[in-house]
Amino acid sequence: MSLSGNDGRDGFTSKFGIICATAGSAIGLGNIWRFPYVVGENGGGAFLLVYLGFILLLGIPVMLSELVIGRRGQRNTFGSFRRLSPGKPWWFIGVMGLAAAFMILAFYSTIAGWTLEYIVKSFANAFKGKSSEELAGMFQSFHTGVFWPLFWQVVFIVMTAWIILSGVKKGIEQYSKILMPFLVALLVIMAIRSLSLPGAMGGLQFLFKPDFSELTTSVFLSALGQAFFSLSIGMGAIITYGSYIRKENNLTTIAAQVSLADTLVAILAGVAIFPAVFAFGLDPAEGPGLIFHVLPSIFQKLPGGYFFAIIFFILLAIAALTSSISLLEVVVAFLVEELRVSRKKATIMAASGALFVGVFCTLSFSSLSEAKFFGKTIFDLLDFSASNILLPLGGLLIVVFVGWVMKSAEVKDELSNGGLLKIRLFGFFRFVIKFIAPVAIAIIFFNSIGVL
Ligand code: TRP
Repeated sequence: MSLSGNDGRDGFTSKFGIICATAGSAIGLGNIWRFPYVVGENGGGAFLLVYLGFILLLGIPVMLSELVIGRRGQRNTFGSFRRLSPGKPWWFIGVMGLAAAFMILAFYSTIAGWTLEYIVKSFANAFKGKSSEELAGMFQSFHTGVFWPLFWQVVFIVMTAWIILSGVKKGIEQYSKILMPFLVALLVIMAIRSLSLPGAMGGLQFLFKPDFSELTTSVFLSALGQAFFSLSIGMGAIITYGSYIRKENNLTTIAAQVSLADTLVAILAGVAIFPAVFAFGLDPAEGPGLIFHVLPSIFQKLPGGYFFAIIFFILLAIAALTSSISLLEVVVAFLVEELRVSRKKATIMAASGALFVGVFCTLSFSSLSEAKFFGKTIFDLLDFSASNILLPLGGLLIVVFVGWVMKSAEVKDELSNGGLLKIRLFGFFRFVIKFIAPVAIAIIFFNSIGVL
């Protein structure tokens, strides 16, 4: 394991490795599974517009704030806050982050498990010659089963833990940096095929033509939750990664490039999926199963689709892994640095905890489908509480911390690498994190939960 020289802690060693690992955390099921289904549920174009606005105005500033906290604090999320503001209860953000990590890992591993099943189905040529209805039926009978969804979830969590165990440099950096360009290339091919299907235009219109009558307060909250989820912000994953970034890297560039890449992949996924949804006469608002119906249909219409399907689902599972390791790393870094647990023990504890909660998520599509809280299944409840409540609240507290608690000179020092880099938009960034971001997040959040 090579050391970066940051307090002698293990860290990322190359600039490219950092971008890849951070982008690897951001790009995942959030872009390819969650983004299309949430866009579909929230009426399309108008949601997309709001989403893009949030990425730019709220997402990038929150991500940059997390990087600043992490690299300055040189600890896990909890420890970074305690170090930067000793004796004050800001470490509570770290506690919220731990809760969010378990909740997200739980439902994330359910979906990641589905992608593993779809790798096997692709190898078995199971989509061949099937109609849309048959493909829907195939997904239905798989995900409402008990054994296989649980089996794949366990496999996924074990894989995540195994990567975490091999350490920061060797694990995260190496696995992240090789494969993501392939995923993008494949998405481009699928988008082209999808766009050339008869009836594809309806999908493009749905995605890009805003219908402002669709905008309700819940659409704003969903867009905020999706933006935070997709960028991996609001719970300290980026703080943790920030603490592994060397002092000579430019944080602003990292935040901008990662956000841009993440957004492009989400839009690309939208362009691959919605034209096909409309061409096949499917319902864009059908929920979490959307891509599992639509993608196999696209592969069937693609020359060499058999191979494309295999490669695509493998890459999707890897994208999910590079994201889930960033979630598990939040918990492991906390256990190792704060509770002095060995890395191995910490990983086993964290992964078992996530699996325990995760089982309930997976079963909420089968034996526990009737168990509802506030009208939501366990899966929906965890997704909603983590993405739409904990992440925005965490993001709000994070910008307030960097905007109001950390000294301006300290933030400037971190962003300019001790005065080495010119930072042009510092005044603007400061203004956004002090005023615009906290107010905007607070209004959207409290408004939609009915407090304001
Ligand atoms: N952003 C990842 C995705 O889009 C998921 C993820 C990884 C995440 N780490 C996170 C979401 C931290 C929220 C917070 O798939």
